[in-house]
Amino acid sequence: MNTKEAKVMIIGSGGREDALLGELRLSSQVGDIYVAPGNGGSDRFPDTARIQVDIKNVRQTIEAAQDLGVNLVVVGPEEPLVLGIIDELQEVGISGYGPTKAAAQLEGSKAYAVEFMQVEGIPHPESHTFSDFDRAVDFTRQPPWTYKPNSGVVVKADGLAAGKGVFVCAHFDEAYDALRRLMVLEEFGKVGKQVIVQEKLSGYEASVMAIVNGTDYILMPTTEDHKQSLDGDRGKNTGGMGVDAPHPLITPELEREIATHVIDPILYGLQKRGITAKGTLYPGIMVTETGFSVLEINFRFGAPETEAILSLFQGDLYKVFDWVVNGSRRPEVSFNTRSCIVVSLVSGGYPETYQKGLPIYGLDQIHGSDARIYHAGTERNTDGTCKTVGGRVFSIAGLGENREVARNNAYGVIGPQGIHFENMHYRTDIGKRHLE
Ligand code: AMP
Ligand code: GLY
Repeated sequence: MNTKEAKVMIIGSGGREDALLGELRLSSQVGDIYVAPGNGGSDRFPDTARIQVDIKNVRQTIEAAQDLGVNLVVVGPEEPLVLGIIDELQEVGISGYGPTKAAAQLEGSKAYAVEFMQVEGIPHPESHTFSDFDRAVDFTRQPPWTYKPNSGVVVKADGLAAGKGVFVCAHFDEAYDALRRLMVLEEFGKVGKQVIVQEKLSGYEASVMAIVNGTDYILMPTTEDHKQSLDGDRGKNTGGMGVDAPHPLITPELEREIATHVIDPILYGLQKRGITAKGTLYPGIMVTETGFSVLEINFRFGAPETEAILSLFQGDLYKVFDWVVNGSRRPEVSFNTRSCIVVSLVSGGYPETYQKGLPIYGLDQIHGSDARIYHAGTERNTDGTCKTVGGRVFSIAGLGENREVARNNAYGVIGPQGIHFENMHYRTDIGKRHLE
């Protein structure tokens, strides 16, 4: 493709998609760029147009891409991937970045992922799948691993539940309650009718992401996500409250070992099954006293990990996607060795109920600092100002020569003198426990 000829459409509306947009528009090959549906930040770039589609309606989304003459569709969220948007794009001759429906099953069904990992010898917690409530309860009352120290159980809805279908339980009573909510009350609909009951592990977590082209991959720096809503890893599990990158505890040796024992066998296992493996493979890892274990396999960019990774990325992201989807030459890619701290600004109450429509202040106060502002749950008012429309409202990425400077740069733009809105909440401890 010649200079600035590519027409790209990004699917999604969060901070992850805002980071993808920010990076793709810098490509020497990208001309027009569309975000479907995008957020209040997308149109701060004059070369970007927002397209209003329901991204769970795959047909409608593809028709919009066809009408615009798009060459490449980059899919952020998991739902359209699991629904098969990549396969359907292929049918109409448009390249899509992401896994096919068959490959996306690794994320779409936790039972499938566990079975896959069992067959391929990928380390994972002991897990059992149930679709009968009574049998699940009987098993959970006395699971085979109760003799182990720190024992407990984790109950997970099999299907996609936007990060809310996982219950980490210290006691049987909690697990019983989780099983009842999923299987009897069907609080998550049919995605919870089948569950997996899993051994609870203790350790620290790591997000590993690799851009895979079927046989080869670009491993990105490992990052540390912070899932709980409150400082000190307390409170409810969320989609992600902040990121420390690169991961403070993962050595290059451990990173290579994880790649060899997790990424390689996933690629091999998919090839063996005749399934094309393209997109961002993102296993969630827990490092325990005895080794590492895969808690889940995602097949998409993580959020807010992507905001951190792309703040450090050096290269042409379009060329990376072109390598994956069209088999062009593998591009040169590197990652800045600086530190990056990402802080999610959320609406008070998230991940449960929260207010929407709150005016956002201070966006115009941020000039030339080492902080990047990624919009997530924002929308623009007719007068150009912004308001909140979602739980996670911004991802603020601070960069610096070390973690402390990166933290100062991120936190320095948050608050009464910087970005703020009523009932704003954020964790104050991202990167803090690993200060040099
Ligand atoms: P998942 O969506 O499966 O990664 O689970 C969400 C979060 O629940 C993870 O990031 C962990 O914090 C926690 N979790 C999941 N599985 C386990 C497990 N087997 N042991 C301990 N914590 C877990
Ligand atoms: N950071 C968690 C996720 O993207 O699933």
